[in-house]
Amino acid sequence: MKILMVCLGNICRSPLAEGILKAKLKEENLNWEVDSAGTSSWHINSMPDNRSIAIARQHGIDITDQRARQFQASDLEDFDLILAMDADNYNAILAQASEEQVSKVKMILNYSYPNENRRIPDPYYNDGFGQVYQLLDTACDRIIEFHQK
Ligand code: 4NP
Repeated sequence: MKILMVCLGNICRSPLAEGILKAKLKEENLNWEVDSAGTSSWHINSMPDNRSIAIARQHGIDITDQRARQFQASDLEDFDLILAMDADNYNAILAQASEEQVSKVKMILNYSYPNENRRIPDPYYNDGFGQVYQLLDTACDRIIEFHQK
């Protein structure tokens, strides 16, 4: 299984999602691949936001080796599952997807709240990294439960 986490900047939400899912997969001895990307080019090659680094560290997860990259159409071929943090990201990804690729793209919180299309709030200007962490932590548990079976 190859999973790509996608947000806008690839510095706040999707790096956390990547780090959290990778930590859980390690605990479960699951050999899935996880990466993350942003739909914008604004932060290419940047480290995760310091606030994401801090909240991850509080939970024993180191995300400092991650560097931002931009989502590209070839990701829709390379990954089995592409998980968007909000509807803007979802729509930006779908705009590059072929008809057969559409079903690979999902809103990540639909694993926790099926069919509700809830978003992970963008914490860049508003803060709320603790809430973002908790939402992603639960969603990653659900992702593993759903796809392990
Ligand atoms: P992210 O958060 O999409 O979770 O990485 C953001 C990061 C940067 C900006 C917006 C959201 N920005 O406007 O630069």
